[in-house]
Amino acid sequence: MDRPVALITGATRGIGRGIADELASTHHLLVGGRSADAVAAVVEALPSAEPFVADLTDAAATQGAVRGIDRLDVLVHSAGRDATRHLEDMTREDWRDLMEVNVIAVADLTRLLLPALRAAQGMVIMINSGAGLRVVGSPAYSASKYALRALADGLREDERGRVRVTTIYPGRVDTDMQRHLQAESGRGYNPAEHLRVQSVAAVVRTAVDATPEGTVEEIKIRPIPVVPKG
Ligand SMILES: NC(=O)c1ccc[n+]([C@@H]2O[C@H](COP(=O)([O-])OP(=O)(O)OC[C@H]3O[C@@H](n4cnc5c(N)ncnc54)[C@H](OP(=O)(O)O)[C@@H]3O)[C@@H](O)[C@H]2O)c1
Repeated sequence: MDRPVALITGATRGIGRGIADELASTHHLLVGGRSADAVAAVVEALPSAEPFVADLTDAAATQGAVRGIDRLDVLVHSAGRDATRHLEDMTREDWRDLMEVNVIAVADLTRLLLPALRAAQGMVIMINSGAGLRVVGSPAYSASKYALRALADGLREDERGRVRVTTIYPGRVDTDMQRHLQAESGRGYNPAEHLRVQSVAAVVRTAVDATPEGTVEEIKIRPIPVVPKG
């Protein structure tokens, strides 16, 4: 296979799907998702791709899915979930579920793939959030994204000279996650107030195309406010 290889988690929908469409022109893709059918539909639509099916909160399933990957140029962590509740409404189990997807699964998948990433002098790209830089909305969601930021910052130093690590901090993006969040808060949804997934994917492209002596460590991207006409 001539193409470099990229694994994208959460590639069945939203930002991950946008990143898959962007990288499809240059990379062989491992399309990450929980549902074999949803993953197969994305694989079918791309020129060079194969499935990577696992619920990333399931350690054994994750370990099984990485078997056979011995070279990996790009690992994009886009799988993640939102949280709308505030502290007084969250049980220990709610906290565990959130941290499991947004932090622990990311750490574990990265650990399993580090040998393959080192072999390729590859890169890890974490889709964080503006909520990983300041607390907005649910403190629990921010706590998970602050933890993800610490994970990325630590990994970057540990792997400096071997594997490059990029964190992307998007503001609101027009995806199912944002529609769900705003439906729960009772606000009307206006896609024009959001970034398009293609805009986040373009930032990923910037990191992936960094020259060999350089590394893009962090990028923050936010939607510009919609100015009423007239
Ligand atoms: N949308 C925003 O405004 C926004 C802004 C900043 C950052 N982010 C971050 O960007 C990332 C992607 O968000 P999005 O808006 O694209 O979300 P989305 O539309 O809800 O898509 C989430 C993706 O993650 C996958 N996923 C969720 N839990 C999983 C699990 N346990 N195992 C494997 N895959 C799992 C989903 O797979 P299924 O199809 O199987 O459910 C889906 O492909 C998240 O980390 C989010 O925190 C989003």
